[in-house]
Amino acid sequence: MLTASQALGMIETLDIAVFKVETHSTLGDRASFLRVQNLVRSILGRYTYLEVGSHVGGSLFPHLIDPACEAALSFDPRPAALPDERAELIHYPQNSTARMIAVLSDELPPSAMTKLTTFDSDVSAVSPAAAGPKATLAFIDGVHTNEACFSDFVGVLRFMKADCVVCFHDANLIADAIINAERFLDHLGIAHETVFLPDTVAVIGLGAHASRVRDELQPHALDRKAYLERSQRELWAHIAKVHSPKFRAEIDKLRSENSRLAEKVTRMQAESRLDAKISGMARRAFASLGRKADRIKRRFAR
Ligand SMILES: C[S@@+](CC[C@H](N)C(=O)[O-])C[C@H]1O[C@@H](n2cnc3c(N)ncnc32)[C@H](O)[C@@H]1O
Repeated sequence: MLTASQALGMIETLDIAVFKVETHSTLGDRASFLRVQNLVRSILGRYTYLEVGSHVGGSLFPHLIDPACEAALSFDPRPAALPDERAELIHYPQNSTARMIAVLSDELPPSAMTKLTTFDSDVSAVSPAAAGPKATLAFIDGVHTNEACFSDFVGVLRFMKADCVVCFHDANLIADAIINAERFLDHLGIAHETVFLPDTVAVIGLGAHASRVRDELQPHALDRKAYLERSQRELWAHIAKVHSPKFRAEIDKLRSENSRLAEKVTRMQAESRLDAKISGMARRAFASLGRKADRIKRRFAR
């Protein structure tokens, strides 16, 4: 088990070995998480951390072990599977708060665990009065659709101090939610600055922390325009790749229906030509019979 001072040294030097519990994040993401944690520690000294989407607690761990983190709130309704912007269903077997607490308790002293309050609920469904002091650092990592992430952002704001930092994970999947969040802050008249850190971490500084996020994180950030364009291209390419067998099967089905229809039309055209021929023959036979009948009538009339 890491001691708090060992963990602190690792956090301050961006040593990602501090992540002792499984986390759904890349190595680059983990370094960025620590960079944001260091920024908040340096601005505030002490902070309250709020997390949307905790799974087994990997992203909670560095905050729970950090003496500067006074309290941590975790919101996670624990569904068995969730959608995401790639139009795929992601499964989370054995996803429970009890399991997360058991895993974290194996790696943390009881004093760190007492900082944690969990809500098996969507953040929008909880009243801020139930959560105690307002938070200064939030991390949104629940359902990775634009709709859900924007809803989480709006829900999270109610739990935050006016001057705070809100981060999004998997920013490459939910870039539209981040842009919506920025427009929403414009609408509210709240100063804000966003940076995109490697690999997929978007950080928004709000109020008095906007300029600190810009000045201190921008040197480590990715180019915004290039990042957003690449994210959209990669997302579309992924959707096309994953879904192309289904699209191809649908196109093949439509093609075979089309050729069946074409055969039917050809058959019907042939049948109608035949019908026209038969009725012509019948008309001619009828007329000739009529002429014969007239001749016979005339012969008998003489
Ligand atoms: C990608 S995992 C989180 C990973 C975690 N942050 C980490 O790095 O270790 C997504 C989590 O979001 C949770 N989730 C699903 N719907 C949610 C919601 N409406 N609000 C919050 N969390 C949700 C899932 O139960 C799952 O545990």
